[in-house]
Amino acid sequence: MICVSKNKSYLKSQNLKIFGQCKLNGIVEISGAKNSALVLLAASLLTNERIVLQNVPRLTDIEKMANILRNLGVKIIEKNNELEIDSQNISIKELPYELVNGLRASFFCIGPLLSKFGEATVPLPGGCNIGSRPIDEHINGLKALGAKIIIEEEIVKANIKGDKSRLIGTHIKLKCPSVGATETLIMAASLAKGRTTIENAAREPEIQDLCQMLNKMGAKIYDSGKEKIIIDGVSKLCGCTHKVIPDRIEAGTFLIAAAATSSSITISPVIPNHLEAVTNKLQESGSKITIKGNSITINGNKIKSVDIETAPFPGFPTDLQAPFTTLMAIANGESKITETIFENRMNHVHLLNKMGANIKLNKNIANIKGVKKIKGMDLVGSDLRSSAALIIAGIIAEGTSTISGLEHLDRGYENFESKLKILGIKITREFNKKTLKNKEFKTSSDPSDIPRYKAA
Ligand code: UD1
Repeated sequence: MICVSKNKSYLKSQNLKIFGQCKLNGIVEISGAKNSALVLLAASLLTNERIVLQNVPRLTDIEKMANILRNLGVKIIEKNNELEIDSQNISIKELPYELVNGLRASFFCIGPLLSKFGEATVPLPGGCNIGSRPIDEHINGLKALGAKIIIEEEIVKANIKGDKSRLIGTHIKLKCPSVGATETLIMAASLAKGRTTIENAAREPEIQDLCQMLNKMGAKIYDSGKEKIIIDGVSKLCGCTHKVIPDRIEAGTFLIAAAATSSSITISPVIPNHLEAVTNKLQESGSKITIKGNSITINGNKIKSVDIETAPFPGFPTDLQAPFTTLMAIANGESKITETIFENRMNHVHLLNKMGANIKLNKNIANIKGVKKIKGMDLVGSDLRSSAALIIAGIIAEGTSTISGLEHLDRGYENFESKLKILGIKITREFNKKTLKNKEFKTSSDPSDIPRYKAA
């Protein structure tokens, strides 16, 4: 995969140089959804048969997850954006701390390992530094399904209680509609004995993608995408081929970048209704949105201030809050951005202020007075989505900006700067030649390395 090196410090020696006040123009292809691909990789542990995952984005998070699976004994063959996964020879049911560190999605493995093998040992997950990110909903749900769980020294040890060989279907009501907990419990329940109902389930498109793949594998899951999901456990799941859905967060990031520069671009392929909350807000803020099949065209205009409040799907996604804050920083008027999902997801605000934005932060609420201009600066991204917000800010700003901390960006955006280059942005990845040879990473920065696409 493009982002991987034996030299683990390589990303710290890279930065993106952006020449500001550019416009975007053209068509950009949207990659497969990172958050879907991660959970689908975990779901492939549920069968001994071959799973072929198509449209998998080439990202460091995906590579980490693939390595976790390999460590369990899974064979993975990689061909461009396709992964062929063979889980028939799993010998270990324990995830080592060194591999899961920093990848929250690694915790997804607990559900499949527990329900298929009756045991799992998984370290507490890491992930972006955006809040405390508890796992109580995962744990309580698994216990309700008949697991015995002990947490000792940050390691979660789970097995099936008593002399039973399968988890037992039950009724679970989540306290909050956690995406990760819904996914963990769906995977665990799909091989449990009897019926499980999950109430107050998350309704994110990635959950529907997971259920679609599991149903192709022979699971019996009904009403995914609704608040109450029903799963009739089966004793065995089989292999399948599945194409990961387009990444709605990457898509939304490009739309926001176009709106912020009053540009016109087309993104494709997308599933437009996955982006409805975002396109509605972009329209309210002055952009013209045209939906045609699986593509969305945005024609940016003068930017009007609008308020947003993040919410579980189908509400405005927390993952696009930071990029939207950048847009509002240069909007005409005042706006209020309220983050309701994660308590520590405003890392970008003080950096935008350094660039000349006028944002007052009161806990999880950003009160923004739009300014006419912001200026380029050298900045360090501190989490995935705030890094994307800073890159958009660099594109808008007067002068040049240098964004480092690319280890966050490369976790979640496939070929981001190459795609921006294709759209006309002057952006280059700079390498510290003392520690690395440029050619080692050429593919992640060069538009000629990624195919060109047509909007459908
Ligand atoms: C997933 C996404 C992430 C996205 C988030 C919300 C992946 C790999 N990541 O994260 O990009 O920002 O959904 O859309 O898919 N909570 C609890 N107890 C739990 C679990 C969660 O209280 O056991 C709380 C969290 O602290 C948070 C809220 O529920 O406040 C939402 O978290 P959750 O939906 O679980 O997010 P993730 O699955 O971690």
